[in-house]
Amino acid sequence: MEKLTFSNTDTLVVNQSQIDALLPEAREAMAKVENGTGAGNDFLGWVNLPSEIPASLLEDIESTARKLQDKCEVVVCIGIGGSYLGAKAVIEALSDSFAAYRHEPKSTKVVFAGQNIGEDYLYELMGYLADKKFGIVVISKSGTTTEPAIAFRLLKNQLEERVGKEGAAERIVAITDEHKGALRQMATEEGYKTFVIADNVGGRFSVLTPVGLLPIAVAGYDIKALVEGAKAMQEATTSQDFATNPALLYAATRNALYRAGKKIEILVNYNPKLHYVGEWWKQLYGESEGKDGKGIFPAAVDNSTDLHSMGQWIQDGERTIFETVISVAAPQHEVLIPTDNDNLDGINFLAGKKVDQVNKMAELGTRIAHVDGKVPNLSITIPALREQYLGELIYFFEKACGISGYMLGVNPFNQPGVEDYKRNMFALLGKPGYEQQTAEIKKRLS
Ligand code: PA5
Repeated sequence: MEKLTFSNTDTLVVNQSQIDALLPEAREAMAKVENGTGAGNDFLGWVNLPSEIPASLLEDIESTARKLQDKCEVVVCIGIGGSYLGAKAVIEALSDSFAAYRHEPKSTKVVFAGQNIGEDYLYELMGYLADKKFGIVVISKSGTTTEPAIAFRLLKNQLEERVGKEGAAERIVAITDEHKGALRQMATEEGYKTFVIADNVGGRFSVLTPVGLLPIAVAGYDIKALVEGAKAMQEATTSQDFATNPALLYAATRNALYRAGKKIEILVNYNPKLHYVGEWWKQLYGESEGKDGKGIFPAAVDNSTDLHSMGQWIQDGERTIFETVISVAAPQHEVLIPTDNDNLDGINFLAGKKVDQVNKMAELGTRIAHVDGKVPNLSITIPALREQYLGELIYFFEKACGISGYMLGVNPFNQPGVEDYKRNMFALLGKPGYEQQTAEIKKRLS
């Protein structure tokens, strides 16, 4: 059966016996994830999610998506961080690269807001929506995050002006905490359809909850296949051995490399549709591991594009990096390079080849060059960009992240550092309750 595979053939600065020596430690870290015996164990709801997600919830998500599709040409998904990146990553990976420019009257477009505080972005979005039938999926676990709150206030006003308060309530879905937060209160008062984000699932682990699944379903993709893929990987990653558990091997390998001085991991793709998988992965690993003065710095590149920008540094810069390459075995479509009688561009040696054959040689050539340049190379292969395999990939990274974080010696499930900028921003903006911080920050700036 086709499935995700992981290989750590070219680790260079560590050998397999050094990685094998970490097996007991990796198993211990995995037991903490599976049995809830480590720090942050109140955030392990994602571990059994694929096998435990109720069929009735999936049905509810799909029927809510259909209702939004019936009413709306565009659905704006509002959220940031873990309430944004998972859905964005899956939708981009599955979408036609030019979907945004195509006029397809029967399909509902999904766009995003609340993931930034760009005034021009919001102005332009409201302009785009001005002549569209639109709806909103607003997502915030805490229900109090500033960026999505601003976007929601603006778009809710626009929608209510267009279709009235009652009409807007039929086109707004809120995904938030069961009881707490401003969004929950607003949803109750306004009568919005809601989905709950369980207390024990942190934002960056929430893509297989309604947070990710509803936007993905609205965009027209098969959430049941996505969950099935995750479930297959959930089963595969309970194994105690490196040979059969790719998450255990990935976690141990990256920790071995980190301990050998490789402080930066670059997630590499050779398919532009995977750009946001890189963004999602950066959040997952960055927020989970970057704490207590520790953590592999997660970076991402899109090749071959970035071989013409970051390629020099990766090949030849400070030797503190390793790379994990996601390969997609088969593209969805076939494009053959034509012969040209004049051959003025000199590329007739490629004539008759599939574009993907050239891409694969760029990938192989780069791997050989990087290995020669002392960049350890780990490799993940997925058969194709389809829901099932993306589900496998998501769960693989989540499980490995929990194991890896515990091996690193941190609590992988909190994010205390994220609060610091918020405190300063609220102090600078004069939020009630922040008077003392406002005085202190003003003194620092004077
Ligand atoms: O992973 C996390 O917990 C964060 O990135 C959150 O997802 C992000 O800050 C958004 O939070 P909320 O969903 O509460 O608005």
